[in-house]
Formats: sequence, C-alpha cells, structure tokens
Amino acid sequence: MGASKRTLITSALPYANGPLHIGHLAGAYLNADVYARWLRGMGEEVLFVCGSDEHGAAITVRARKEGLSPQEIVDKYHTLFQSTFQSIGISFDVYDRTSSPLHHRTSQEFFQKLYEDGQFIEKESEQYFDEEANSFLADRYIIGTCPRCGHTDAYGDQCEKCGSTLSPTELIDPRSTLSGSKPVMRSTRHWYLPLENHEEWLREWISTGHLDGAVHHDPASWKNHVIGQCKSWLDAGLQPRAMTRDLDWGVDVPPAIPGAEGKKLYVWMDAPIGYISATRKWAEENGGEWTRWWQDEETDLIHFIGKDNIVFHCLIFPAILKAHGGYNLPVNVPANQFMNLEGNKISTSRNWAVWVDEFVRDFPGLEDSLRYNMIRNMPEQRDSEFTWKNFQETHNSELVNNLANFVNRVLVLTGKYFQGQVPAVALTAGFVDPEGQPTTIDHWMKHLASQVQAIDSAIRGFSFREAMQLVMEVSSAGNQILQINEPWKVFKSDPKGVEPVMFISLQIVAVLSRVLRPFLPFSADRLDAFLGCPTEGEQGRIEEVVKACSQGRAILVAGHQIGTVGHLFDRISDEVIDDQIARLHATRESSSAKADEGPVAVEPVKGEIQYEQFAGLDIRTGTILSAEKVPKADRLLKLEVDLGIDQRTIVSGIAEHFQPEAIVGQQVLVLANLAPRKLKGITSQGMILMASGPDGKLYFVRPGESLSPGCIVS
Ligand code: MF3
Ligand code: ZN
Repeated sequence: MGASKRTLITSALPYANGPLHIGHLAGAYLNADVYARWLRGMGEEVLFVCGSDEHGAAITVRARKEGLSPQEIVDKYHTLFQSTFQSIGISFDVYDRTSSPLHHRTSQEFFQKLYEDGQFIEKESEQYFDEEANSFLADRYIIGTCPRCGHTDAYGDQCEKCGSTLSPTELIDPRSTLSGSKPVMRSTRHWYLPLENHEEWLREWISTGHLDGAVHHDPASWKNHVIGQCKSWLDAGLQPRAMTRDLDWGVDVPPAIPGAEGKKLYVWMDAPIGYISATRKWAEENGGEWTRWWQDEETDLIHFIGKDNIVFHCLIFPAILKAHGGYNLPVNVPANQFMNLEGNKISTSRNWAVWVDEFVRDFPGLEDSLRYNMIRNMPEQRDSEFTWKNFQETHNSELVNNLANFVNRVLVLTGKYFQGQVPAVALTAGFVDPEGQPTTIDHWMKHLASQVQAIDSAIRGFSFREAMQLVMEVSSAGNQILQINEPWKVFKSDPKGVEPVMFISLQIVAVLSRVLRPFLPFSADRLDAFLGCPTEGEQGRIEEVVKACSQGRAILVAGHQIGTVGHLFDRISDEVIDDQIARLHATRESSSAKADEGPVAVEPVKGEIQYEQFAGLDIRTGTILSAEKVPKADRLLKLEVDLGIDQRTIVSGIAEHFQPEAIVGQQVLVLANLAPRKLKGITSQGMILMASGPDGKLYFVRPGESLSPGCIVS
C-alpha cells in the first residue's frame, strides 16, 4: 500500500448553465469522490476541490435563453449545484465559484505574470462580428453547419453531434446566435499562448512521463484513450491559442496591460485556475498554506474530468502552468468517457437526462442506489449506458438481495442468539469457508485484509467498477458462509456451535461498513447505526481495518452491543420505474417545441466477448480485382478479391454506395473464414469490412499504409 502521501484531487468545474445530470456524476464527480474518500480512509492527506465555472459563452447564451442576467444565471445554478452535490454525497473540501473576487484576482495575477514574462504573442486577426448586435462572435455565439458531419447547428467551438472541435471559420453558413444575422469579418487584437513552443516537452511528458529530464509519472498508469487523444492533437501540430476574448462577461484582462479594455480572459484560461483559487479559499478559511498543494512536489495532482476536457487538462492547462513556472503538473488525468441514457446521448437542450436534483427529490433514501449504479456502470474505458430497468435490477438483485440481505441476516440472528452482543470466541475457532473448506477466524480475517488490499489497488488504478465489484464480493462471500454453515440449523442442537460463524459474519459486516463508505456513504452511516458504532469521520478508518485484519484481530470485539437493526435497502417496484420511464419520454415531448431535434441515438456497445472469440476471426487484407452489379438485386455487388492465399468471390451489400468501376483496385479488409453463403445464386466466400459514417454512408476499412494482399489483422 502506498506510503502516506498528499493528494490534491480536482473535479472539472461544471458550467453553471443548467442542472446536473447523471452524466456529470458518472464523468467527473463520483469517481473523484470515491477516490478522495478512500484515500482519507487510508489515512492520507487529501484536498478535494471544485467549484462552479461561471464564465464563457455557455453562461451568457443560457442567460439570454432564460431571459436572466448572467449573474442571475450563475447564482441560480451555483446554489443548485451546492445543494445537489451535497445531497448526493460528494465530499468536496471546498466548493468555490469563478465569479468570486479571489478567483478574479488569482487568474489576473496569473495572466499578468505570463504577460510580463513574454509568454504570449499578440496578434491581430479577422473574426466574425455581428453588426446588428455590435458584438464579436466567439465560440458558442456562432452556429453553422458542421464541416465534418453536416449537423446544421454546430457551435463555433464544437459540434455536439459528432463531437469535433471546430473553429468559427470552419463553419459552413455561419450565423449569429445573438441576432440570427449573417456575420461579417472584422479585425481584433488578442493575446495568444504559442502552444507550438510547448509541443516538444508536452510530447515527451505525455508519452514518457518525463519532465525536465526527471521521471514525473508512469505513463502506463494513464488511460489509453487519454494518451491517444493527446497524441492525436500533438501529431496534428499545436497552434497558438487565443487566451482572451471580446466579451462583456468574464475576468477582465488586467487593466494595466495596454489594449486590455473590453477584453476578457478566455474561459479555458480562467476556469482551470479556478482549482487554484478554490485551494486558496480553502487555505484562507482553514489555515495552512495553499502552496503546499500546488508548488510542493510531494503533492500528487489528479484531475477528474470527462473526455471532452482532455485537451484542456493534458495540454493547454499544463502549458499555462509550465509557462508560469513553479506549479505541479498532474500525475494523472483519469478522464471518463460518456454515459448515455436509454439508448440516446444525454442532452440538456433536448431534455434527455436524469437530473440529479430531481432524482434526490423523487427517491429520498436511495442516493446510494444511484451512486451504486453509476459506479458499477462507470464509463471508464468506453461509453456506457444508464437505463431505469438496469437501475432497478442492480438495486434489487445486488443491493437488496446480496448486501442488505447479508447485513440483515447477521444482525437479526445476533439479536436472537446473543441478545445483540458480539459473542466471545477464540480467534482460532473454526467454521467452513465459501468453498466448503474448514478455516479459522484469524485466517479469514487475513483473507479479508487481502480483499481490502485488492480494492485499494483497483481504486488507485482508477478502476472503480472493479473496486465496487470487489466490495460486493466481500458481501457475497459473507452470504455464502452463512448458507454453508447454516447457523439457524446448528443453533437448535448446539447453541455454542454457532458462535464462530456469527463472530466472523459480524466482522465481515464491520469491514463492509468501513470499505463501503467511499462508495455508499449514506448506507455506511446506517450500517454504523445498526452496528452500534458511532460514525466517526473517514480519516484512517479503512487503514485501521487493514491493520486489524492483517493481524488476524477482530474489529467488533466480544461483548460489543449492536444497535437497532433496520433495512439497509428495500426493493424498488416496477411502478416506480415505469413512472420514471414515462416521465423521461413525456418531458421530452412537451419540450420538443424548444428542442431542436429528437434525442440522438447511440449504438450501445455490444456484449462483452472473450479474446478467444476474437482470435477465431480470420481477417486479412485484400484487393478488389473486379466488381459488377448482381442482376435483380439493388444492393449487391459481386466482387473478385485477391486475398494473397487465394482469389475468391464475395457478394457485398454496397451497391447503393459505390459504382463498381470506382472500386476496382481498392484495398479492403476481409473476414476470410465466414461460412460461405448463397446470395442470388452466387456463393459468397467472406465479407468485406465497412464502417458506417455519421452521414449514413459506408466507408471501406483499410490499412493505414498500402499492404500486399493476405496480411493478417489481429
Ligand atoms: N466547465 C467545463 C465543462 O463543463 C469544465 C471546466 S474544467 C476547468 O466542460 F478546469 F476548467 F475548470
Ligand atoms: Zn459534426
């Protein structure tokens, strides 16, 4: 287990422009919360910071929509965020906001220093300007057709349909969101961070983990998709990036800088500095130096974010910090992917979401159920999906049938057999383990210690799904121990004989009460009350469990009186769930006049397969030698394909997408061991692999370089 360290944990500052939904939770808050709580439990020093992101076009555009001032909008959502995060148990040490004077000062000081050190270049450029509204149109003030996917309402900085990062000048048919008019070009001056000057060290830092010639972190501990995204930005070549905007709302460019008037800091310049301001606020209120969290190499900085924030946290903010000098860079940025909802992408504007504040209102006492479902389905490596049915199933079959059932059986039997007192048993006393093997209490305590160690490693590897599952396995093992030892039968003939199995079961409940806390803090409180243990903070509580268990000692000692037992969880009925599903669809319909389109469907990831199943596919490179239409079949082409090993006939359903003569000579990938099939009387011996683009067209999949036919893909 890691030496006692100091860790600064940040969660992406949410834009104060709409309520929080489950996608937010699963992306950057629950994972960070579990991590923070676990480290505290292990006795480590942790500071967990966050706050509302209150600047940028995201805010002002929303304010116009709701007919409120930007200040009114951020006040409204900042207040809502504070109570929502608290109600779902996110244990921030400080929750700040970027409209605070301290943040304005901190980000201005930062900008001023970069300016004085010559870290910026000043450039005049042509930008879109709305003559009716008399305003420049940055980022979300401009919409148009996405050059990548054809979506007609892509923003100037991003297309929400295909996820591409854009710049306003790439949009086709741009229009202003302020007046709807067609914008003109007008020149303006801004300060740019020349990211290209940072490219070399960033590349080295991202790919090797080295910084200034020393080892900074282990790149193998970073998620592949995070490194992959960074590399693709680096490979495309970094460009100077404007750090200021022509806007009315935001942090002023420090007025002492010539030309500052009317200019604000770019929101992605000021927002991440919000992590620093939040730390300063915490230090002001709690005593201590904020610098030990940011400027002391003994502190590990970890950013929890969603995948749309990767470039900002892995390239741009690190470049800003490095340009300033003296600050730590993150040792990891364990970004999550997205969580979809009932087959569609979560979307605020299309009102396709489960709002956290509404959930907490509709399901009082079930906060941990939501946490549980989100953690076990966390989009750690790929997008995942929330469905109400799955929520009900995981609650009923895992939380009720496994966890609550185990706890309840142990505590009820303890009341019945021993008047609620932990029996006095020798630690060498025996019982039967889940495999049916005889074992002893002290031995099983050590086994529990190793389980907790496994949970610890999973969490430190940012595998929260796995960690959650390991916790539940502790409970399943407890259930199996009860099932196999059958104390309810033994008690009738041999009341003393049930003491060892009840004793170990009580210890398992005690272990659960501690290791569950980071995941399900509300249930841990209830469990503590059932066990008659006062709930004492988090600091070092898991560490104590590890120590006791690894020494084969008990956690609940003989004679301890347990408290009043209740239900940890009750079943969720079908009606409640059907109601939520109906509501989800209804709110979307009622608001679809506002919503631009219906929800955007996503292809769910197919069920998991084993490597062997993949290895059974024989995929090879091939070249199309000839192609002709299949008579009386609109969709089919008959292809002759050179596969290196042989030439064969493949019938492919691509006739609506390609002219036969245009694809002769085309390199393709072929699934070569697909069972032959007769199509319109022709035997097809294999299948050509195709990708379907967001535009609905089919594209050939082929190697990055031209390869001879017959090369194996694996
Ligand atoms: N508000 C941004 C978003 O929701 C995240 C800002 S993270 C910070 O995407 F680093 F800038 F704070
Ligand atoms: Zn697009």
